[in-house]
Amino acid sequence: MKNLVSIADLSREDALYLLDNAQQLAQVNDREVKKLPALRGKTVVNLFYENSTRTRISFEIAATRLSADVINFSAATSSLSKGESLKDTAQTLEALGADAIVVRHPMSGAAHQLAHRDWINASIINAGDGSHEHPTQALLDALTMRQLVGSNDDLAGLKVLIVGDIRHSRVARSNVLLLSKLGASVQVAGPATLVPAGFEKMGATISNSFEDSLEQQPDVVMMLRVQRERMQGHYMPSEREYTQNWSLSGKRLAMLKKDAHILHPGPMNRGFEISSEAADDPRAAILKQVSNGVAVRMAVLHELLAGERS
Ligand code: NCD
Repeated sequence: MKNLVSIADLSREDALYLLDNAQQLAQVNDREVKKLPALRGKTVVNLFYENSTRTRISFEIAATRLSADVINFSAATSSLSKGESLKDTAQTLEALGADAIVVRHPMSGAAHQLAHRDWINASIINAGDGSHEHPTQALLDALTMRQLVGSNDDLAGLKVLIVGDIRHSRVARSNVLLLSKLGASVQVAGPATLVPAGFEKMGATISNSFEDSLEQQPDVVMMLRVQRERMQGHYMPSEREYTQNWSLSGKRLAMLKKDAHILHPGPMNRGFEISSEAADDPRAAILKQVSNGVAVRMAVLHELLAGERS
């Protein structure tokens, strides 16, 4: 495997292989010396055209734990603000010695262009392209779900509910594709303006009532942030109405099964899409997701830069 741009790049077997490896690599994070020599001499560049906390830092930690050199490159302080194109920037990074470029970009398809246009030879990892995909997020969510339900295999039979601004969410797209591949049944729920019909073709069912969805007793409820920065036009009557209908409030928390799990990719807007009560509930596994981000990104970097199967 050379690039990871979309969940469509992975077969079910590829995905399970990465999850198994991530589970193994997670153990390195519990050691006193958190280092493996696997990527010594390799250079990973984080090329971020959008803000990020978790994703950028966890790619950096993942690469460092595998002994690669890491360069962080943020749009605000580089020649990008002087108008340099994505192609010229990527070719420059490769000329400087990059073996892998981790790219986050507001344009859907940016990572695909870099990976498939013959501009460069470096491996490309999509760390979020517009509203399109965020494959390593879906992998870390799947790893978290496997751990929560104690599975070493796929997620057959697991009922997952994804709630909120589905339309603008690359997390929702990648999750629906991966979870369906792994045998889970996925429902996406939100106001009709924020849930495009196309999600049915990707393997999810659609709901426009949080209460109806909760009555189906999901095993996992994943809450999503409302992505205002991607909205052109009006998608909701008011914030108050959104919170009333779509927030994981204390009342809705009480409808969850005792052994349900609450996920959120972060950043959370407490009091808006999720109440503090829900975010701090013992059933919430939000920080477990963050930790698993390091393990999954170690597995992906290892596979692309040193994988025996590539
Ligand atoms: C998400 C993203 O950037 O797509 N965050 C993340 O990577 N953990 C979701 C979001 O921004 O709401």
